[in-house]
Parts: sequence; C-alpha cells; structure tokens
Amino acid sequence: MDRNLMMERAEILVGSVDDLPTIPIVATKVLQLLDDHDVCIDDIADLMLTDQVMTARVMKLLNSPVFKPTQDISSLKRALVYLGLRHIRELALTTSVIHAFEGTSGALELNSFWEHSFGVGMVSKIIAQKIGYQDLEKAYISGILHDLGEVFLSNFLHDPFMEVLMHVKTHPIKLVDAEAMLLGTTHCEIGLSMARKWNFPESYCDVIAYHHNPGQAKIDPVLCSIVNLADLFCTVRGLNYGGREWISFKVCEEDAWTILIEAYPGMAQMDEERFCYELDDAIPDVTALVASIFDHN
Ligand SMILES: [Fe+2]
Ligand SMILES: [Fe+2]
Repeated sequence: MDRNLMMERAEILVGSVDDLPTIPIVATKVLQLLDDHDVCIDDIADLMLTDQVMTARVMKLLNSPVFKPTQDISSLKRALVYLGLRHIRELALTTSVIHAFEGTSGALELNSFWEHSFGVGMVSKIIAQKIGYQDLEKAYISGILHDLGEVFLSNFLHDPFMEVLMHVKTHPIKLVDAEAMLLGTTHCEIGLSMARKWNFPESYCDVIAYHHNPGQAKIDPVLCSIVNLADLFCTVRGLNYGGREWISFKVCEEDAWTILIEAYPGMAQMDEERFCYELDDAIPDVTALVASIFDHN
C-alpha cells in the first residue's frame, strides 16, 4: 500500500482525536534542561519535584531490583546523583509516556505491550554497545518508543484493531501488514504522527516510522536497524503482544544486519548464534523491570 496514503490516513485519525494523551510539560522541560551543559542536579531535582507522579515513579524504579541500589534511596536528589544525568532523561521520558496511557482500556494488554517495548529498549542498547554505536541512551529510548502507534490503535480504533489482532492470531501475516490491509494505515504512520505532535526529536520519529523498513530510514538507518533486530529478537523470545509466535528469523538474512555490517565492518566476524545467546541474558531483567514499573502495591 502507498506509504503517502497511509500517512494521510494516520494524520486524519490522530487529528480526529480530541483527548489524545499529552506528555507532561515537566518531562519536556527536563529533556530541554538536560541539553544545557551547565545544568546542575539541584535544578533538575527542583523541576521534577513539581511533578509528584514522575518523582514517585523515578523513586520506585530506582529502588527496584533492576537498578540494584546498595541501600534504600529515599530522596530524589540522592536518586539523581546515583543515577547520573543521562539516565534521568531516560526515566523522565519513559515514565511519562507510560503514564500518559495508564488506566486506559484498549484492545491491547498493556503489560505485555510495555514488556515488549522495554525488552526492545534493553536489547537495542545491548546491540548498540556490541557494535560500538555512539549513543546508547538513544538506542534504549528509541526501542522503548518504537511501537507507540499501537497504543493509539488499541485505544482509539478499538474494534477494528481487535479484528487485526484476531487476524494475526489465525493467519501467517505480520501485525504491521495486517494493519495496512485492514486499517489502511499502520502503527508506524500513526506513531510518527503522534511523535510529531509531541515534538519528539527527529531521530526518534525516524525509528517510529521505519523500524520495520530500516532501509528506507531518512535520518539514522543504523539506529532503525538496531531497533529492527531487537524487535525481531524480542518477538521470537516471547516478548510480544500480538500472537506472532510463528515468526522466525535469521539475523544474517535481515536487511538491518546488512546495514549494520556496512556501517560497522567489524560486525561481519560476529558469530550469529553467540550474538543471540548473549542477548538472551537480558530477558529476565526485562521481565523484572516491567514488573517493578507496574507493581502498584
Ligand atoms: Fe512495530
Ligand atoms: Fe515492536
């Protein structure tokens, strides 16, 4: 299906929703503040403390087994010192995006959706580290956000999207292809349209739009390829949400792999089996992380 037509349809759909969740203003400000080289921890702590939900989430995540603090961290400022400035951006953005969709009842089971998203984020970061991609934080955040458009479809196109989910359960078709066929657009175009509304930086928009076709990426094909492989990997390891268990893939036959080898020739020597084996180590951490985010007790 024509990509321009799918984009047009996505813009109409996203534009027609009045109560599209918003990203808290504090999150956007934290992101901007962190780009300022003279920023100090006190400024960020003061700003974050104005958003109690975000503060509570950061504290909870930080005291979770994933970050394994050596002692209980009770003040936000200590938390920020412990985490370091780079991680704060990750937490501010991701906790806000999750919060934006919390409590909504859609066609998707949100827990497994975020498990997939965080899984792809963590595996993207590991792949980025392995190949020597310079911005690990960007790889992680891109992975978390790549399927954002699905939450929109799940919430605002509930019944037609339900049909899509049923269709992929019973037919050997990828979720993204079933969306194009039955909805006339996909989560990639919808996600792009939302990301633009939320003023996400261009490279995140690129991943959201092209993570299923990294060869067509406009800004950072390497980043799109990293997320593409992480996505396939998590899907075949059970971190999926759309009944796509039948999918199998061979890393070295993927376009993304070719793109990465062109950018990082050293990768050609990498043993594919070992590559996947090492990624497997991340899976238990992903499950623990998601459990800690969604544990409301
Ligand atoms: Fe996707
Ligand atoms: Fe995905």
